[in-house]
Formats: sequence, structure tokens, C-alpha cells
Amino acid sequence: DTSLNVTLGRLRLRNPILTASGTFGYAREMAPFVDFKELGGIIPKTVTREARIGNPPPRTIETASGMLNSIGLDNDGLDVFIQKHIPYLQELDTAVIANIAGRSVEDYQTMAAKLAPFEKLAGLELNISCPNVSGGVDYGTNPESTEEVVRAVRNACDHPIIAKLTPNITNIVPIADAAKRGGADAVSLINTLQGMAINWRTRKPILGNIMGGLSGPAIKPVALRIVHQVKRAVDIPIIGVGGISSIDDVMEFLVTGASAVQVGTATFFNPSVSGTLTQQLRSVMQEQGIERLEDFIGTLRIDQ
Ligand code: DOR
Repeated sequence: DTSLNVTLGRLRLRNPILTASGTFGYAREMAPFVDFKELGGIIPKTVTREARIGNPPPRTIETASGMLNSIGLDNDGLDVFIQKHIPYLQELDTAVIANIAGRSVEDYQTMAAKLAPFEKLAGLELNISCPNVSGGVDYGTNPESTEEVVRAVRNACDHPIIAKLTPNITNIVPIADAAKRGGADAVSLINTLQGMAINWRTRKPILGNIMGGLSGPAIKPVALRIVHQVKRAVDIPIIGVGGISSIDDVMEFLVTGASAVQVGTATFFNPSVSGTLTQQLRSVMQEQGIERLEDFIGTLRIDQ
């Protein structure tokens, strides 16, 4: 069934439904809930060069308008990822895109070089947009450093590269443009939107780290707006992410110009949702007479 295939630069996916980084650990937790071959791919939790303990608790809270998290890139570091998780991940019947973050260009470059030999990895997603670590958003908020980080990774490995960008910026277009110049195959739009939750009785912020990243339905309009802005201004494939939980959400992102989508927060409420979306995508295409998904992507009509 090639009708669901999508191509993002050098990254080819059998369908456009991916699970977002941070929503399913390193995929073992997913196995009971989804049939991996139904997915376009999976993106495990961000890995850093060294282990990190993350931010003080509480680190997640559900608000009326979405989920806030301030995990702070808690992970066991790249060596553990390579020893413990890659052997499992590379046997899965789906595209696995490793997600990495660093504190310096050298961090990203070194990590990319260590991952370079793993040819079964479908690509690398560069997290240059975490709102919860100091220095974590710096790359993604500055075109020069975005270009530099992407180029360093480009020179360190042959994998397709996806730059995951932040919405916590006034104009994302120069950043997407810089990712393209650095050699990115695609951009993921968007990471979480900075937010805060307050307990007025204790007069304290609820999250241990004070601020966090908002995800879920609340940020879908923001993500769609940003996908639209980048689609119109920069010639680079886009992966849409932000508040996707239904097939209508998927279709909205695709028509706006995303060539693939990531499902994140919805997975916490329904762990099998990503597999269901692939099946629903097939029926919607049939119902709409869309033969090849690629003919539908970016066909938003703007009459003016
Ligand atoms: O919202 C987020 N939380 N985005 C990231 O990129 C990382 C994550 C965390 O670990 O804090």
C-alpha cells in the first residue's frame, strides 16, 4: 500500500503518523498498545550526551486547557541509549527517529557521530526547543546557532535530520530557514508552548521548575498557524505536532502543509490512538477519493 507513503527530504515513511518524542519512553511501553508496523515511525524520548536527573517535582500537571510538563530532559544518557535501547528499537518494524539534545554544538556533533554507525535508525530529530532546561531553547531561538547545530550534525552523520523548533519565539520563519540552510531534511513544528500553573492558596507555582511546556488541544491552533507560516515562506518538509488526537486533526495539519504528523499528549489518554489514526486515514482517503496522500498535502485554499 504505497498510497500513504510520504517523503520528507531523504526521509521516506510508509505513512505519516508518528509518535512524538517524550510520549512513550523508548518504545517498550508502547508494544502492548500499538502494532508498530501500522505507524509511520516512532521518536523516542530525547537523549543527551550525559545522563540527566531532570527538574524537581512536580513535573507534570493537567490544566483545563492542556498538559504542562517540566521534565527537564531526564534521561540515562547516550551510552545507555546505545547499549540498552537501540538493540530493541532497531528490530521494530517501523521507522525509528532518535531525538537528541545538547548544551553545545559539540554535544550535538559528538552524539550524531556516535549514532552515525546505526544505519537502521531512520533519522535524527534535533531537539533545539526544550523549554525546560536552561540554555535549552537558545539554539532554536537564534538563526545562526540553529544553522550551526544542524550543519554540525549534517557533517557528523548521513542520517536524515529533522530540527524540532520552538513556538516560544515571535517569528519562526528565520529559524526554519536557518535549519534548511544547515542541511535539515525537515522541521518538526512545534515543541511545547511555555506556560505556568498557580496555586493561589499556597501562593506558589505548581511545577517545581515554576514554568513548563503546554501541550495538547490548547496548542493545536498555534501549531497550525506555525505550520502555515513556514509552509508559505520556506521550502522545507514539515512534520506537524501539537494537539493532534483525531483524524480531523491529522487532515488539518496535512492540508495546511505538514507531510507527516506526530501524536504526543493524546497518547497519554489513549495509548493506542496512533495506530487507530493510520487506519482512519485509509478510510478518509477512500471516502474523499484521495489516491495518493502526497497529492493532498499542502493543498490549503487561500482565496485572496
Ligand atoms: O515539553 C517538553 N518537555 N519539551 C521538550 O523538548 C523536552 C521535555 C522535557 O524533558 O522537559
